[in-house]
Amino acid sequence: MDVEPILKVTNLTKNFGNLVAVNRASFKVNRGEIVGLIGPNGAGKTTLFNAISGLYRPEEGTIFFKGMNITNWLPHRICRLGMSRTFQVTRAFTHMTVEDTVRVGAYNRFNENNVQDKVEQVIKVCDLVDIRKRVCEDLGLASLRKVELARALATEPEMLLLDEAGAGLNATELAAFMDLIKKLNQESQITFCVVEHVMQMVMGLCQQIVVLDSGEIIASGTPNQISNNVRVIEAYLGKRAVHARNQ
Ligand SMILES: Nc1ncnc2c1ncn2[C@@H]1O[C@H](COP(=O)(O)OP(=O)(O)O)[C@@H](O)[C@H]1O
Ligand SMILES: [Mg+2]
Repeated sequence: MDVEPILKVTNLTKNFGNLVAVNRASFKVNRGEIVGLIGPNGAGKTTLFNAISGLYRPEEGTIFFKGMNITNWLPHRICRLGMSRTFQVTRAFTHMTVEDTVRVGAYNRFNENNVQDKVEQVIKVCDLVDIRKRVCEDLGLASLRKVELARALATEPEMLLLDEAGAGLNATELAAFMDLIKKLNQESQITFCVVEHVMQMVMGLCQQIVVLDSGEIIASGTPNQISNNVRVIEAYLGKRAVHARNQ
């Protein structure tokens, strides 16, 4: 049985000049889990994702993925080992069709012979069949968000980091998006680490939640543990949550 965590981050530190954006962060993600990473704006969530996925070189700390020390590996190599991510600011190739955008993702892991099979599979699973020939810049946000996810999925990840992948969606669209993540987790055994702002969604989706504040991990635990953690309520959920709790 594979009991080793799929991702193990230890004492990870990333500075921008004098600013310590991520400060000795340590956490683990078990295979098959959906982990939520939460924290106020500027807490360091995106920086942490960038350091884990190889975009930034950490000042300190180690990252183990699938038992391998991937610290300082380049992003494409990490991607080939099975970790993919989406970006907070949509980077969809706007002038390209949905199908071609997904194909760009697939080329990271597949060659000419089997790239199309992967494209077909991902387009189907993300429900993009009807819009596969459309150009991304003509799409609405909900479709674009799915295309972003599909592009990451086409690299056949074992682990996906989603950085506010549902941002800007209305409640119905977000619920559908979260259902898709749940389905991918259950049917394709993909492990997720998600940054998402709608707390209800995070609480409903995740088995484990990690809370970042000013670059430091201030708590981690089940949604229930986190929602009852006073430090979290003060630091992150703020006055409104404390008020609601006391009512
Ligand atoms: N490329 C960068 N250069 C300088 N400072 C940055 C850079 N990226 C992020 N920061 C700073 O690092 C801190 C963490 O930012 P970020 O990781 O984007 O937070 P979050 O994603 O939690 O909102 C913030 O203070 C932000 O201004
Ligand atoms: Mg961010």
